[in-house]
Formats: sequence, C-alpha cells, structure tokens
Amino acid sequence: MKQQREHWGTKIGFVLAAAGSAVGIGSVWKFPYTVGTNGGGAFVILYILLTFLIGVPVFIAELILGRKSQKSSIFAYADLSKGSGNWKLLGWLNLFSCFIILAYYSVVAGWCMSYILMSLTQFSSGKSPDEIRNVFSLLEQSPDINIFWLFIFILINVGVIYSGVRKGIEYWSRILMPALFVMLLGLFIYSTTLPGFGKAVHYLFNLNFSSLTPSGILSALGLAFFTLSVGLGIILTYGSYMKKTEDLPKNGLLVSSMTILISIMASLMIFPISFSFNMPPEAGPGLVFKTMPVLFAKLPGSLVISTLFFSLLVFAALTSSISLLEMTVANLIEIRKWSRGKATAVAATISFIIGIPCALSGSNTLFPSWKTIYGKDFFGTMDYLTTSWMMPIAGLLTTIFAGWILNKSISKEEFEQGTSFKKIYGVWLFAIRFLCPLVVLIILLQEAGIFNLSKIIQYFTR
Ligand code: PHE
Repeated sequence: MKQQREHWGTKIGFVLAAAGSAVGIGSVWKFPYTVGTNGGGAFVILYILLTFLIGVPVFIAELILGRKSQKSSIFAYADLSKGSGNWKLLGWLNLFSCFIILAYYSVVAGWCMSYILMSLTQFSSGKSPDEIRNVFSLLEQSPDINIFWLFIFILINVGVIYSGVRKGIEYWSRILMPALFVMLLGLFIYSTTLPGFGKAVHYLFNLNFSSLTPSGILSALGLAFFTLSVGLGIILTYGSYMKKTEDLPKNGLLVSSMTILISIMASLMIFPISFSFNMPPEAGPGLVFKTMPVLFAKLPGSLVISTLFFSLLVFAALTSSISLLEMTVANLIEIRKWSRGKATAVAATISFIIGIPCALSGSNTLFPSWKTIYGKDFFGTMDYLTTSWMMPIAGLLTTIFAGWILNKSISKEEFEQGTSFKKIYGVWLFAIRFLCPLVVLIILLQEAGIFNLSKIIQYFTR
C-alpha cells in the first residue's frame, strides 16, 4: 500500500515552521549589520519592497510545486516537468546547497551555543574590552571546541528531524518560535529604555536615498532571498506537507511579514545598544560575537541579558537548520527509499563531515593554503558559493520552471485552492514569469562582472 505523506497537524504549525526556517541568524545578525553597512533607512525600505515583489512570488511558487507534487525537490521537479528529466538537476542543486549551508550554519550556531555557556560562566567579568573581543578569536581558532559544538548542534537537529514532521518540526517550532518572540520582545523593550533608541529609530527609518549604491540594491535582494529561505527547495518541501485546504498566497504573505517584523525588531534591539555606547554599527560576525559581549558587560544584569541574547540566536538558528536538514532527509527518503531514521543519520553525517573543514577554518589546521589559493577561508568560500551563486541560480531556475514549464492550469488551480486572494493570480504569474527572473538575472550578471548596474544607473541619472 502506498504510504500516506505526513502533513502538518495544524495551520499555525506550518506558519511557525516556515517562519522558523525564514527567521534565523540572517534576521538577527546579518540583517542589522547589512543595514549598517548600507546606510540605514532607504536600504530597509528597499529590502521590504524586494521581499514582497520578488521573495514572496518565489516563496508561493515553491509552495505550489511542493503541494502539487507531494514530493521533495528532486522528484517534484522530475514529476512536474512534462517528462524532461533534466529539471531533476535543479532538485540536486537544491540538495547540495542545503548540505553546504547546513554545515557552515551549524558552525555559527555552535559559536552561539558556546556564548551561552560563556555568558553563564561570566567570561567577560574583570576583562577589558580588548580581552573580551579576543575571546572570539580564541574560540574561532580553537579546532576542538568548534568541532565539539558542531557535533552537539547537529545532534540536536537529528533529535528533532528523526521525530518527523508533526512530532519533530511542528512540535519544536510551536515551542521555539513563541519563545524566540517573547525573548526578542523582552530585549526590545529593554532597548527602548536606552538613550540610543531614538537614534536607532531615525537610523532605520530615515529616507536618505543618496546612501543607496547599486551594490546595496543587489545586497538587499540577496538578503531578501536568504532571509526568506527561498531558492533551496526548503519551502517546496514544507509545502509538500500542506493540505489542499490551505491558503498558499496568504501563508506566503504572512511568513514574509513575520520575517520582516522580526528583522526590524532585532535591529531595533541591537542598534540602540551600539549607539548608547557610541559604537558604530560594525560589520560582519564581529557585531554579534565581539561587540555585543563588550556592551553587555557594561550593562546591569549582564549575565541574564547576555544568556538571553545568545539563547535567542540558538533558537533562531535551530528552526532554520532543521528546515535545511529536513529537506535533505526528505529527498534521501524518496531517492533511496530509506527509513526516516537511516536518512536522518546519513544526512547528518554528511553535514558533519562538510562541517569539519568549516569548523577548522579559523585555525587553518586542515587546509592551510586554502585562503591563499582561493582568497577566502573555507568557511567564507562555502558561504559565498551558496549565497552568491547556488541560491540565486536555483532561484532563477525555480521562477522559470514555475512560470514557463509548469502547466498554467496546475499553478492556477494550486494558487486558487483554499485562498481568498484568487484575483491576484495574474499578478503572481506576471511576477514569476517576467519580474523575478529579470531581476535575479541582473544580480547574477552583475556578480559575474558581465553587467555593470552602476554604470547603467549613472548613464540614466547623468
Ligand atoms: N533564512 C535563514 C536565516 O535568515 C537562513 C536560511 C537560509 C535557512 C536558507 C535555511 C535556508 O538565517
């Protein structure tokens, strides 16, 4: 007998799981610092605009492909491609990307876990700001500690994914997401009492379009993709667990609105702290792991605030990483006909193995000449490869598939089933056929150096 595919137990279960995938280290760490490096307000508005114009249509497209096929990415593309086996390759691209992202994402999550323990043991007490910052470098360069936390984090993921869609992902998302929101709200309220809050609000919502550069426009789009978790077949897989009665466009809009809200709240929590202590919104991993503990050490109740903050990061990372692992597990189950247990064990082992060079990246123990040869350390190379190339290429192919290859009657039927937004099908189809592929193509060409957006903008604004 054909086994029935497991579905989400509740409507809110899907919303929390998908929002859990979307809201991650990207929203709480990458968003604030990218806003910081792109000059604030205008970038935020653009990010919101691009999330709705490009991110949401692709998100809905993935839900349509998943719910229609009731499969994960590889078989979904194979089944829906009118017999052309080549589209399977898009599913494979999704699968490889997920393995790689899961590997380096778990290393960052491992740092966050380490900072929880460090907060509890009051690592910053009696240390100078320089000494506190140095602890991160020490951690980054410590091979055994990084591997230890990588292992623990992947093990936690295995525990959740092994339990399945309802008892694992849905159950934990229903606990972790509200907890994340409450913690964020608590820290956010705390931040509103700081002297730098007004400055932070002004910084985030001032409309200074002159600070926006072409590369800023492109990074806003990249961020929109990354924070929504689209272009990886994850939302497709989560969509395959949805019932026919569910409203796909409404869910897409709801999850993206939640992601934007949390990203903005996270910025309104982090910037007031930086501004109150006259520290510029610093770039990169430094903002969270180096600067924040220095600031926390100066605040009253630093043990509680610091522990809460890093727990929040771990919760956010976990609901994202389980979506990455689930996608790989669901595909392995379908390709190899394995049990969930076996597929989870194999997928976790592969991620752990790819994670090892990422975890050893800071200490240079495994590939000492990597950075000299490739210009970035192993960790950075994996991040760059996936976010700058694999995700956008897969995103572009997804829009082409959903807009041009998939039968229009199928996309219309799936879009309209269970929704009260029937009228916007035409808008979605236009976006997925023309707007999204065009914009994503422009980013890719710019990234490849084939096309220079700044020159074109200069030409028109001369
Ligand atoms: N959306 C997650 C975040 O913001 C990252 C992520 C990307 C998770 C891709 C899954 C897939 O951190």
